[in-house]
Amino acid sequence: MKINLVNSCDIKKYDGLIVPMDDSNLSVKDIELPVEYLLGAKKLKAEDGESCLFTLQAGGKYIETSLLVLGEKHIESYRKLLKLFGDAFRTLKNKKSKSIAFLIENGSISASETLVKAAIEAVIMADYVFDTLKTEKKETDEISVDVVVGNSDKYSSFKTEALVLAHANLYARELVNLPANLLYPESLAEKVTDLGKEKGFDTEVFGFEKIKELGMEAYLSVSSASAREPKFIIMRYNGDPDNKEILGYVGKGLTFDSGGLSIKSTKGMLGMKGDMGGAAAVIGAIGAVAEMKLRVNVVAVVAACENMISGSGYRPGDIIGSMGGKSIFIGNTDAEGRLTLLDAMYYIVNKEGVNRVLDIATLTGAALRCTGTEASVVIGNDDDFFNQANNSFEKCGERIWRMPVYDEYKELIKHEEADLTNLADDPGTITAGLLIGEFNNDIPWLHVDIAGTFWADKQKGILSKGGTGAAVRPLYYLAKQLSK
Ligand code: BES
Ligand code: ZN
Ligand code: ZN
Repeated sequence: MKINLVNSCDIKKYDGLIVPMDDSNLSVKDIELPVEYLLGAKKLKAEDGESCLFTLQAGGKYIETSLLVLGEKHIESYRKLLKLFGDAFRTLKNKKSKSIAFLIENGSISASETLVKAAIEAVIMADYVFDTLKTEKKETDEISVDVVVGNSDKYSSFKTEALVLAHANLYARELVNLPANLLYPESLAEKVTDLGKEKGFDTEVFGFEKIKELGMEAYLSVSSASAREPKFIIMRYNGDPDNKEILGYVGKGLTFDSGGLSIKSTKGMLGMKGDMGGAAAVIGAIGAVAEMKLRVNVVAVVAACENMISGSGYRPGDIIGSMGGKSIFIGNTDAEGRLTLLDAMYYIVNKEGVNRVLDIATLTGAALRCTGTEASVVIGNDDDFFNQANNSFEKCGERIWRMPVYDEYKELIKHEEADLTNLADDPGTITAGLLIGEFNNDIPWLHVDIAGTFWADKQKGILSKGGTGAAVRPLYYLAKQLSK
């Protein structure tokens, strides 16, 4: 995909046009074309938030045209903009348009930072399909998009940021989409190391011996049935060396979750190559932070491993230790994510010195029951930190929904034979998060459960089938909010 910002354009050069307009009475004169050029228009009227598609004939060429109506409430909602723009782009792509003009500044509406960014992010994200492992690719020709903005100099830095964010999102989608025979702890660590070299952050990777030496018994218990070595991946970006503040990100990195002895069904297991969606989010985000050279310090960690089944695996009923010293009863080996995360949480707070921390994970099926695919579920201990995160998600067209943390819930993760249990009563999404929160040393903390949002069952708007890259762009903006 080639994207250029242009001041103005001659539409006859293109075979596709996307034209957002501000009212519901569309007429061809709005794009300054004589009526006789109009072919096959079914209707030239669209409701707010809708589009209409027709073909223009100009300069001996056919131009597939998608007119969109953007009322105020659509212009104000980044989520709606991305969806409308993504759908419009894909409609033209399906019509085989290869050279598209996206008329952001068109006499009906005026260019703005939001519209320019949304247009660029939407077309890049909507263009993605996971075909890396196909020997014959469906699409070979690259599509080029000219975004018409009136004053291209004014928007060039926004274009850069939009490109970085959209590609970071796609990087995370690709990690989620890669199957577990190809993406396992070691190969993930190699990819992260390469990404760090490319974008400008440092990577350190601990293998089994070092993880054991650190006492991460909960993490190692989860990994114990796997033939693959666990890899604890640390990413450090030091963009503001004079500042002691460090933002910490912890991502769940189960490259596969079979459930262990508490085995999942075949259907339940099928999506579990993506049980590293939290890791993908923090990796994508720190890559974008480094690439944009933000003046902020970020450390991200991923306790990568597989939850498999073998004679060396952990069992329901076991009582295990943890790096923080607390003992944990294993009620279910499929509640493994929280065990890897609580050791990672203890590590990042006590060894990396972060002073605020967000963990993110495909943690509980119950999160999907709470808010479906439309929002991620969040709990935390700090209103300001929550508000900052909420703004960051909204800014990207993503959503988080905060759940309560009552003292009564904290009782549910206690166990009579051990300090804590990995299987607590309902509300399961909250109690799962609280187990991780036990190790946050009371610094500002948020826990984001993306089990409902990390995956899309079908292509729609900016989403492709498979990984969604959920939270990558929001975690970038959260770091940006904390930067100087
Ligand atoms: N990785 C799963 C959660 C999950 C399910 C993510 C579906 C995405 C889609 C997690 O490790 C898990 O299995 N959780 C169990 C916990 C239960 C045993 C307490 C769950 O949610 O059923
Ligand atoms: Zn599980
Ligand atoms: Zn899992």
